[in-house]
Amino acid sequence: MRSEFKYWNNHLPYQIGHKADVTVHPVPEMLNFASVDALVRELKPRVPVHCIRPQVLQQVAQWFLDNFPGDVLYAVKCNPEPAVLHHLSQAGIRHFDVTSLSEIKLISKFAPGGTAYFMHPVKSRDAIRKAYFDYGVRDFALDSKDELQKIIEETGSATDLNLHIRLALPKGVAAHDLSGKFGAHPDLTVELLQAADKIARQVGICFHVGSQCLHPDAYRRAIKLAAQVIARSGIEIDIFNLGGGFPAVYPGMTPPPMSRFMDAIKAGLAEDIKLPAHTKVRCEPGRALVAEAGSVLVNVELRKGDNLYINDGVYGSLFDAGILNMRYPAKLIRGNGSEHKTPYKGFKLYGPTCDTVDVMRGPYLLPEDTTEGDWIELGQLGAYCTTMRSKFNGFDEHMTVEVWDQPQMQMKDWQPRTDRRTIDKDNVPALNLLALQREAYETEMS
Ligand SMILES: Cc1ncc(COP(=O)(O)O)c(C=O)c1O
Repeated sequence: MRSEFKYWNNHLPYQIGHKADVTVHPVPEMLNFASVDALVRELKPRVPVHCIRPQVLQQVAQWFLDNFPGDVLYAVKCNPEPAVLHHLSQAGIRHFDVTSLSEIKLISKFAPGGTAYFMHPVKSRDAIRKAYFDYGVRDFALDSKDELQKIIEETGSATDLNLHIRLALPKGVAAHDLSGKFGAHPDLTVELLQAADKIARQVGICFHVGSQCLHPDAYRRAIKLAAQVIARSGIEIDIFNLGGGFPAVYPGMTPPPMSRFMDAIKAGLAEDIKLPAHTKVRCEPGRALVAEAGSVLVNVELRKGDNLYINDGVYGSLFDAGILNMRYPAKLIRGNGSEHKTPYKGFKLYGPTCDTVDVMRGPYLLPEDTTEGDWIELGQLGAYCTTMRSKFNGFDEHMTVEVWDQPQMQMKDWQPRTDRRTIDKDNVPALNLLALQREAYETEMS
């Protein structure tokens, strides 16, 4: 079982394509494989395998840190896997948006030195108290007077609080609307900003344009609304938080380049709002930071016509695939490594539980002769997927490993750039060169 360490012993640390001076080390206790194909050859796993690509986490985090005009908070809810927190932290992410006490504990353990920001607008009294007194959390979000009162009471009227008022946005154009559940109406936001200003060390405003937002202008519209609300409140804002919502690429859903989102935000901050010089600007990406870095390897247990019964489903890592009808890229891997030469066709996937909602309609494009015993790697599952796994019907068994090959899909923004130093003299993107080296190594080993 431990022989797979030969892979990383021979390859690591890897260099990132466009930052030749940055290295990525694996988490020592995790199983590491040069590729998902190598993992299948070696383990032939019969339980779903969550695959994490550390080099992709590093690459995307680096891009956000380089391009967002302020602090980047990772929204931990998206994927709280310790290895993900470790690699993001190693990549330079020092700020974490947390939803619960459990996530705060994870940060203190797996991203030591990082700061947790309790950005959930509704928290239990117990969580507020423990976050403040036991974990040193000073940043709390709220969207109601009652929550403000709870925070004051549970922190013993602390004078060192940073309070963030969550502004409700009108229903936007994001694939996953978040406008209904949280956020204060502009009138209430004005009142809450004024109330917070009387007691807090720092006062912030925050919002969320909706997850998988495909329109950069959504951020400009939100900035304009926030500007009006801040102006009405008459207070000097200390923290301006643009939230998450940054998209990832999925089959049939190609967002505009991420650089256009940054351009819109920079234009909005320059033209649509007048922030005092001391104001800190922040964002809280979840999906965009981690979606590409995660995939899930599943096994086909039965084929019935165009339906494949697999060992993972909506009660596992494929909740969004089933309930929200999200589609993910699929790659067939044969146990014997043989090539699949048949034409491709669309399949529906059924999960392992006895529940009829446990179906992922896709369609998932796979070779026509896909059959029982084959493995399928479903890509882009790093966000809001592996963290959803439940014990329903007893199918919670799974493994988590690190893999070092390329994901099936990537945003163009953070692919290796040729205007920076690469390690390849012929100007071939460095990551491709590494992939070639790994391929050569695998061939040699097999
Ligand atoms: C407060 C807050 N910030 C950030 C995020 C991350 O959003 P996304 O994954 O769309 O970037 C969420 C997601 O629900 C959230 O509730």
